[in-house]
Amino acid sequence: MRIGVLTGGGDCPGLNAVIRSVVRTSANHYGSEVVGFRDGWRGLLEDRTTPLDIAAVDGLLTRGGTTLGSARVAPELLDRGIPQMKGVLAAHGIDVLIPIGGEGTLTAAHLLSRAGVPVVGIPKTIDNDIDCTDLTFGFDTAVSIATEMIDRLHTTAESHQRVLLVEVMGRHAGWIALHAGLAAGAHLTLVPEEPFDVDEVCRLVSARFERGDTHVIGVVAEGATPRPGTMGLRDGGVDEYGHRRFTGVAQQLGEELERRTGKEVRTTVLGHVQRGGTPTSFDRVLATRFGLHATIAAHEGAHGQMVALRGTEIDLVPLEKAVATLKTVPTRRMAETSAFIG
Ligand code: F6P
Repeated sequence: MRIGVLTGGGDCPGLNAVIRSVVRTSANHYGSEVVGFRDGWRGLLEDRTTPLDIAAVDGLLTRGGTTLGSARVAPELLDRGIPQMKGVLAAHGIDVLIPIGGEGTLTAAHLLSRAGVPVVGIPKTIDNDIDCTDLTFGFDTAVSIATEMIDRLHTTAESHQRVLLVEVMGRHAGWIALHAGLAAGAHLTLVPEEPFDVDEVCRLVSARFERGDTHVIGVVAEGATPRPGTMGLRDGGVDEYGHRRFTGVAQQLGEELERRTGKEVRTTVLGHVQRGGTPTSFDRVLATRFGLHATIAAHEGAHGQMVALRGTEIDLVPLEKAVATLKTVPTRRMAETSAFIG
Protein backbone atom coordinates (compact mmCIF):
# COMPACT_ATOMS: atom_id res chain seq x y z
CA MET A 1 0.00 0.00 0.00
CA ARG A 2 1.08 3.63 -0.50
CA ILE A 3 0.16 6.14 2.18
CA GLY A 4 0.21 9.90 1.64
CA VAL A 5 0.77 12.20 4.59
CA LEU A 6 0.60 15.98 5.02
CA THR A 7 0.59 18.49 7.88
CA GLY A 8 -1.73 21.49 7.54
CA GLY A 9 -2.47 24.72 9.42
CA GLY A 10 -0.35 26.17 12.19
CA ASP A 11 2.49 23.90 13.29
CA CYS A 12 2.49 22.30 16.71
CA PRO A 13 4.89 20.22 18.81
CA GLY A 14 4.36 16.52 18.08
CA LEU A 15 3.78 16.74 14.31
CA ASN A 16 7.15 15.18 13.60
CA ALA A 17 6.45 12.43 16.13
CA VAL A 18 3.25 11.56 14.21
CA ILE A 19 5.05 11.51 10.86
CA ARG A 20 7.69 9.17 12.32
CA SER A 21 4.99 6.93 13.77
CA VAL A 22 3.08 6.69 10.46
CA VAL A 23 6.28 5.85 8.57
CA ARG A 24 7.55 3.28 11.08
CA THR A 25 4.15 1.58 11.44
CA SER A 26 3.63 1.51 7.66
CA ALA A 27 7.08 0.07 6.99
CA ASN A 28 7.44 -2.29 9.94
CA HIS A 29 3.89 -3.63 10.28
CA TYR A 30 2.71 -3.58 6.69
CA GLY A 31 5.69 -3.16 4.36
CA SER A 32 3.92 -0.06 2.98
CA GLU A 33 5.50 3.05 1.50
CA VAL A 34 4.85 6.62 2.64
CA VAL A 35 4.94 9.76 0.50
CA GLY A 36 4.94 13.17 2.18
CA PHE A 37 3.26 16.19 0.60
CA ARG A 38 5.10 19.40 1.35
CA ASP A 39 3.49 22.46 2.97
CA GLY A 40 0.08 21.00 3.67
CA TRP A 41 -2.68 21.08 1.07
CA ARG A 42 -0.60 23.45 -1.03
CA GLY A 43 1.93 20.69 -1.73
CA LEU A 44 -0.86 18.35 -2.74
CA LEU A 45 -2.39 20.95 -5.05
CA GLU A 46 1.02 21.75 -6.55
CA ASP A 47 2.28 18.16 -6.62
CA ARG A 48 5.29 18.67 -4.37
CA THR A 49 6.29 15.46 -2.60
CA THR A 50 9.09 13.94 -0.60
CA PRO A 51 9.69 10.23 0.00
CA LEU A 52 9.47 9.22 3.65
CA ASP A 53 11.33 6.09 4.72
CA ILE A 54 12.65 5.02 8.11
CA ALA A 55 15.95 6.83 7.59
CA ALA A 56 14.09 10.05 6.73
CA VAL A 57 12.25 10.04 10.07
CA ASP A 58 15.26 9.19 12.22
CA GLY A 59 15.49 11.65 15.13
CA LEU A 60 12.07 13.20 14.49
CA LEU A 61 10.42 12.05 17.72
CA THR A 62 11.78 14.92 19.77
CA ARG A 63 11.97 17.62 17.13
CA GLY A 64 9.38 20.43 17.16
CA GLY A 65 7.74 21.81 14.01
CA THR A 66 7.08 19.67 10.96
CA THR A 67 9.68 18.31 8.61
CA LEU A 68 7.06 18.38 5.82
CA GLY A 69 6.36 22.09 6.24
CA SER A 70 2.89 23.47 6.74
CA ALA A 71 0.71 26.21 5.32
CA ARG A 72 -2.74 27.63 5.59
CA VAL A 73 -4.83 27.57 2.42
CA ALA A 74 -8.01 29.55 1.81
CA PRO A 75 -11.07 27.22 2.10
CA GLU A 76 -12.43 28.24 -1.37
CA LEU A 77 -9.14 27.21 -2.99
CA LEU A 78 -9.37 23.79 -1.35
CA ASP A 79 -12.97 23.36 -2.39
CA ARG A 80 -12.16 24.15 -6.02
CA GLY A 81 -8.97 22.09 -5.88
CA ILE A 82 -10.53 18.71 -5.07
CA PRO A 83 -10.38 17.30 -8.64
CA GLN A 84 -6.76 18.48 -8.92
CA MET A 85 -5.83 16.87 -5.60
CA LYS A 86 -7.51 13.61 -6.63
CA GLY A 87 -5.44 13.66 -9.82
CA VAL A 88 -2.16 14.16 -7.94
CA LEU A 89 -3.01 11.38 -5.47
CA ALA A 90 -3.83 9.01 -8.32
CA ALA A 91 -0.61 9.91 -10.17
CA HIS A 92 1.40 8.94 -7.08
CA GLY A 93 -0.60 5.76 -6.55
CA ILE A 94 -1.71 6.88 -3.08
CA ASP A 95 -4.20 4.44 -1.56
CA VAL A 96 -4.97 6.38 1.61
CA LEU A 97 -4.20 9.96 2.64
CA ILE A 98 -3.46 10.82 6.28
CA PRO A 99 -3.85 14.59 6.82
CA ILE A 100 -2.67 15.85 10.20
CA GLY A 101 -4.18 19.15 11.24
CA GLY A 102 -6.71 21.27 13.06
CA GLU A 103 -10.22 22.34 12.21
CA GLY A 104 -9.43 23.71 8.71
CA THR A 105 -7.30 20.73 7.66
CA LEU A 106 -9.77 18.18 8.99
CA THR A 107 -12.67 19.97 7.28
CA ALA A 108 -10.76 19.74 4.00
CA ALA A 109 -10.06 16.07 4.78
CA HIS A 110 -13.79 15.52 5.24
CA LEU A 111 -14.51 17.20 1.86
CA LEU A 112 -11.96 14.95 0.14
CA SER A 113 -13.40 11.91 1.86
CA ARG A 114 -16.90 12.88 0.68
CA ALA A 115 -15.46 13.16 -2.81
CA GLY A 116 -14.40 9.51 -2.61
CA VAL A 117 -10.77 9.74 -1.45
CA PRO A 118 -9.82 7.25 1.31
CA VAL A 119 -8.74 9.47 4.21
CA VAL A 120 -7.89 9.01 7.89
CA GLY A 121 -7.49 12.28 9.82
CA ILE A 122 -5.25 13.01 12.80
CA PRO A 123 -6.21 15.96 15.04
CA LYS A 124 -3.54 18.43 16.12
CA THR A 125 -3.64 21.87 17.63
CA ILE A 126 -2.19 23.58 20.65
CA ASP A 127 -5.66 25.14 21.11
CA ASN A 128 -7.21 21.73 21.96
CA ASP A 129 -10.46 22.80 20.27
CA ILE A 130 -11.14 19.75 18.08
CA ASP A 131 -14.35 18.03 19.07
CA CYS A 132 -14.77 14.29 19.76
CA THR A 133 -11.25 13.86 21.16
CA ASP A 134 -10.41 14.45 24.81
CA LEU A 135 -7.12 16.09 23.83
CA THR A 136 -5.00 17.03 20.84
CA PHE A 137 -1.22 16.72 20.92
CA GLY A 138 0.61 20.04 21.22
CA PHE A 139 -1.77 21.26 23.90
CA ASP A 140 0.19 19.76 26.79
CA THR A 141 3.42 21.30 25.48
CA ALA A 142 1.82 24.73 25.03
CA VAL A 143 0.34 24.61 28.54
CA SER A 144 3.71 23.57 30.01
CA ILE A 145 5.49 26.43 28.27
CA ALA A 146 2.84 28.98 29.29
CA THR A 147 2.90 27.70 32.88
CA GLU A 148 6.65 28.06 33.15
CA MET A 149 6.48 31.60 31.78
CA ILE A 150 3.68 32.60 34.19
CA ASP A 151 5.63 31.11 37.13
CA ARG A 152 8.46 33.45 36.19
CA LEU A 153 6.16 36.45 35.90
CA HIS A 154 4.87 35.96 39.47
CA THR A 155 8.21 36.90 41.01
CA THR A 156 8.82 40.05 39.00
CA ALA A 157 5.19 41.18 39.45
CA GLU A 158 5.57 40.65 43.22
CA SER A 159 8.78 42.65 43.39
CA HIS A 160 7.13 45.68 41.77
CA GLN A 161 3.57 45.29 43.10
CA ARG A 162 2.33 45.20 39.53
CA VAL A 163 -0.48 43.71 37.53
CA LEU A 164 0.95 41.36 34.91
CA LEU A 165 -1.31 40.34 32.07
CA VAL A 166 -0.13 37.35 30.06
CA GLU A 167 -1.70 36.83 26.65
CA VAL A 168 -1.75 33.22 25.53
CA MET A 169 -2.97 31.64 22.28
CA GLY A 170 -6.55 30.49 21.95
CA ARG A 171 -8.53 31.88 19.06
CA HIS A 172 -11.99 30.47 19.75
CA ALA A 173 -11.30 28.34 22.80
CA GLY A 174 -9.65 29.23 26.09
CA TRP A 175 -8.21 25.81 26.98
CA ILE A 176 -4.60 27.04 27.20
CA ALA A 177 -5.62 30.01 29.36
CA LEU A 178 -7.75 27.80 31.61
CA HIS A 179 -5.11 25.12 32.16
CA ALA A 180 -2.06 27.39 32.36
CA GLY A 181 -4.01 29.74 34.64
CA LEU A 182 -4.88 26.91 37.03
CA ALA A 183 -1.41 25.39 36.88
CA ALA A 184 0.36 28.68 37.55
CA GLY A 185 -2.05 30.10 40.14
CA ALA A 186 -3.40 33.02 38.08
CA HIS A 187 -5.69 35.45 39.90
CA LEU A 188 -7.77 36.08 36.81
CA THR A 189 -8.43 34.07 33.64
CA LEU A 190 -10.22 35.48 30.59
CA VAL A 191 -11.35 33.20 27.77
CA PRO A 192 -13.14 33.76 24.44
CA GLU A 193 -16.14 31.74 25.62
CA GLU A 194 -17.09 34.26 28.34
CA PRO A 195 -16.82 37.96 27.41
CA PHE A 196 -15.34 39.88 30.34
CA ASP A 197 -16.67 42.91 32.17
CA VAL A 198 -13.87 45.43 32.62
CA ASP A 199 -15.54 46.85 35.76
CA GLU A 200 -15.38 43.42 37.39
CA VAL A 201 -11.73 43.06 36.39
CA CYS A 202 -10.96 46.49 37.93
CA ARG A 203 -12.79 45.55 41.13
CA LEU A 204 -10.79 42.33 41.39
CA VAL A 205 -7.48 44.13 40.89
CA SER A 206 -8.25 46.90 43.39
CA ALA A 207 -9.57 44.42 45.98
CA ARG A 208 -6.36 42.38 45.85
CA PHE A 209 -4.15 45.41 46.50
CA GLU A 210 -6.52 46.80 49.18
CA ARG A 211 -6.23 43.61 51.20
CA GLY A 212 -2.46 43.70 50.99
CA ASP A 213 -1.75 41.24 48.20
CA THR A 214 1.47 42.03 46.40
CA HIS A 215 0.54 41.51 42.77
CA VAL A 216 -1.98 40.31 40.20
CA ILE A 217 -1.41 37.76 37.46
CA GLY A 218 -4.07 37.69 34.76
CA VAL A 219 -4.08 35.14 31.95
CA VAL A 220 -5.87 36.40 28.86
CA ALA A 221 -6.64 34.24 25.81
CA GLU A 222 -5.91 36.12 22.59
CA GLY A 223 -9.54 35.63 21.50
CA ALA A 224 -11.06 37.06 24.70
CA THR A 225 -13.42 39.99 24.18
CA PRO A 226 -14.98 42.58 26.47
CA ARG A 227 -18.71 42.48 27.13
CA PRO A 228 -20.33 44.87 24.66
CA GLY A 229 -20.50 48.36 26.07
CA THR A 230 -17.87 47.84 28.82
CA MET A 231 -14.68 48.61 26.89
CA GLY A 232 -13.69 49.22 23.28
CA LEU A 233 -11.43 46.77 21.42
CA ARG A 234 -9.68 47.75 18.17
CA ASP A 235 -11.02 45.93 15.13
CA GLY A 236 -8.30 44.27 13.04
CA GLY A 237 -10.63 42.97 10.32
CA VAL A 238 -10.38 39.50 8.84
CA ASP A 239 -7.44 37.82 7.06
CA GLU A 240 -7.51 35.90 3.76
CA TYR A 241 -8.38 32.66 5.60
CA GLY A 242 -11.43 34.22 7.20
CA HIS A 243 -9.75 34.51 10.64
CA ARG A 244 -10.27 37.56 12.83
CA ARG A 245 -7.01 39.56 13.05
CA PHE A 246 -6.21 40.09 16.71
CA THR A 247 -5.27 43.56 17.95
CA GLY A 248 -3.82 42.69 21.36
CA VAL A 249 -6.62 42.35 23.88
CA ALA A 250 -4.27 42.05 26.88
CA GLN A 251 -2.41 45.27 26.02
CA GLN A 252 -5.67 47.17 25.53
CA LEU A 253 -7.15 45.77 28.74
CA GLY A 254 -3.92 46.68 30.55
CA GLU A 255 -4.15 50.32 29.41
CA GLU A 256 -7.75 50.48 30.59
CA LEU A 257 -6.88 48.90 33.95
CA GLU A 258 -4.01 51.30 34.54
CA ARG A 259 -6.26 54.26 33.75
CA ARG A 260 -9.09 53.08 35.96
CA THR A 261 -7.22 51.60 38.97
CA GLY A 262 -4.01 53.64 38.99
CA LYS A 263 -2.00 50.41 39.33
CA GLU A 264 1.04 49.70 37.19
CA VAL A 265 0.30 47.12 34.51
CA ARG A 266 2.70 45.23 32.26
CA THR A 267 1.70 42.92 29.43
CA THR A 268 3.52 39.85 28.11
CA VAL A 269 2.37 38.25 24.87
CA LEU A 270 3.66 34.67 24.71
CA GLY A 271 2.79 34.21 21.03
CA HIS A 272 4.54 31.55 18.97
CA VAL A 273 6.93 30.52 21.73
CA GLN A 274 3.98 28.32 22.84
CA ARG A 275 4.21 26.36 19.59
CA GLY A 276 7.97 26.03 19.36
CA GLY A 277 10.50 23.46 20.47
CA THR A 278 10.37 19.87 21.59
CA PRO A 279 7.07 18.25 22.64
CA THR A 280 6.50 17.08 26.22
CA SER A 281 6.65 13.34 26.87
CA PHE A 282 2.84 13.31 27.06
CA ASP A 283 2.55 14.83 23.57
CA ARG A 284 5.22 12.48 22.16
CA VAL A 285 3.23 9.49 23.40
CA LEU A 286 -0.13 10.84 22.19
CA ALA A 287 1.30 11.78 18.78
CA THR A 288 2.94 8.37 18.43
CA ARG A 289 -0.29 6.55 19.34
CA PHE A 290 -2.34 8.72 16.96
CA GLY A 291 0.10 7.92 14.12
CA LEU A 292 0.04 4.21 14.93
CA HIS A 293 -3.76 3.94 15.07
CA ALA A 294 -4.32 6.12 12.00
CA THR A 295 -1.99 3.85 10.02
CA ILE A 296 -3.79 0.73 11.26
CA ALA A 297 -7.15 2.33 10.30
CA ALA A 298 -5.76 3.20 6.85
CA HIS A 299 -4.73 -0.41 6.25
CA GLU A 300 -7.94 -1.88 7.65
CA GLY A 301 -10.17 0.28 5.44
CA ALA A 302 -11.60 2.42 8.26
CA HIS A 303 -11.70 5.51 6.04
CA GLY A 304 -13.48 8.84 6.54
CA GLN A 305 -12.50 8.63 10.21
CA MET A 306 -10.38 10.61 12.65
CA VAL A 307 -8.34 9.11 15.47
CA ALA A 308 -9.36 10.39 18.89
CA LEU A 309 -8.30 10.05 22.51
CA ARG A 310 -11.20 8.80 24.68
CA GLY A 311 -10.07 8.36 28.24
CA THR A 312 -6.86 6.39 27.82
CA GLU A 313 -7.84 4.59 24.61
CA ILE A 314 -7.48 5.65 20.98
CA ASP A 315 -10.78 5.47 19.13
CA LEU A 316 -12.05 6.30 15.66
CA VAL A 317 -14.77 8.91 15.06
CA PRO A 318 -16.32 9.91 11.73
CA LEU A 319 -14.60 13.03 10.34
CA GLU A 320 -18.03 14.48 9.65
CA LYS A 321 -18.89 14.37 13.35
CA ALA A 322 -15.48 15.65 14.48
CA VAL A 323 -15.61 18.81 12.34
CA ALA A 324 -19.26 19.65 12.96
CA THR A 325 -18.47 21.86 15.93
CA LEU A 326 -15.51 23.29 17.86
CA LYS A 327 -14.77 22.06 21.37
CA THR A 328 -14.90 25.18 23.51
CA VAL A 329 -14.46 25.50 27.28
CA PRO A 330 -17.78 24.67 28.98
CA THR A 331 -19.18 27.01 31.64
CA ARG A 332 -18.74 24.31 34.30
CA ARG A 333 -14.99 24.17 33.64
CA MET A 334 -14.68 27.95 34.07
CA ALA A 335 -16.84 27.73 37.20
CA GLU A 336 -14.24 25.37 38.69
CA THR A 337 -11.75 28.26 38.73
CA SER A 338 -13.94 30.52 40.92
CA ALA A 339 -12.28 29.58 44.23
CA PHE A 340 -8.90 30.57 42.80
CA ILE A 341 -9.91 33.87 41.19
CA GLY A 342 -9.15 37.11 43.03
O1 F6P B 1 -4.39 27.30 15.65
C1 F6P B 1 -3.30 27.39 16.47
C2 F6P B 1 -2.84 28.82 16.63
O2 F6P B 1 -1.61 28.77 17.31
C3 F6P B 1 -3.84 29.73 17.35
O3 F6P B 1 -3.79 29.60 18.74
C4 F6P B 1 -3.39 31.08 16.87
O4 F6P B 1 -4.43 32.02 16.92
C5 F6P B 1 -2.99 30.82 15.46
O5 F6P B 1 -2.63 29.46 15.38
C6 F6P B 1 -1.83 31.68 15.01
O6 F6P B 1 -1.64 31.45 13.66
P1 F6P B 1 -0.39 31.95 12.81
O7 F6P B 1 0.78 31.09 13.18
O8 F6P B 1 -0.82 31.76 11.41
O9 F6P B 1 -0.15 33.37 13.20
